[in-house]
Amino acid sequence: MKQGKLALAALLLTLAGCSPSEQAVAPVQQAAGNSFKLSGDVKHIMQWVLDPAADSVWDSAGSIITAAGTRELAPTTDEGWLAVEHNAAVVAASGNLLLMPGRAVDDQGWQNIAQGLVDAGLLAQAAAKNQDSDALFDAGGQIYRVCKSCHSVYVQGDEAEESP
Ligand code: HEC
Repeated sequence: MKQGKLALAALLLTLAGCSPSEQAVAPVQQAAGNSFKLSGDVKHIMQWVLDPAADSVWDSAGSIITAAGTRELAPTTDEGWLAVEHNAAVVAASGNLLLMPGRAVDDQGWQNIAQGLVDAGLLAQAAAKNQDSDALFDAGGQIYRVCKSCHSVYVQGDEAEESP
């Protein structure tokens, strides 16, 4: 009898120990047999993942005209090109992050545009790998058009004005 009570107390303790930690864990989404955990919403991806990476790619593409003359933006070192390749890879991967259930707004237009972002990012990645500044400029333009095409449909108001 005494032993029985002890066992029950131990079981209750185990259960009590389990439930709070289970609640603290963020819900895990199930999709096609894969489980994943969203690290943030679309706005989070824009602010912290995609926008900084795209900015870095654009900052390395084309040229700027200043009072002192025209300055080419393309990297001049292997390290510089590697950094562009890295950021282009983040742009490409972001396309898939935007397609995850919980972020994708619909499975038509949104899907096509986000896949277009993967393509444009991969083009920029290849251009950087080949250290081809003309191809990088074209890919940068393509990335920009993808941003625009999504925002023109899915972002209303001021945000659309501020962002590409
Ligand atoms: C598939 C759709 C889609 C694509 C592609 C896309 N965006 Fe966005 N973007 C959104 C949506 C939706 C919002 C509004 C998010 C919100 O406020 O909840 C947004 C908002 C933003 C914002 C404002 C974030 C803030 O602080 O409120 C920036 C900056 C931005 N996008 C940059 C970019 C850039 C740069 C690209 C291309 C490299 C891009 N976006 C491509 C859908 C997209």
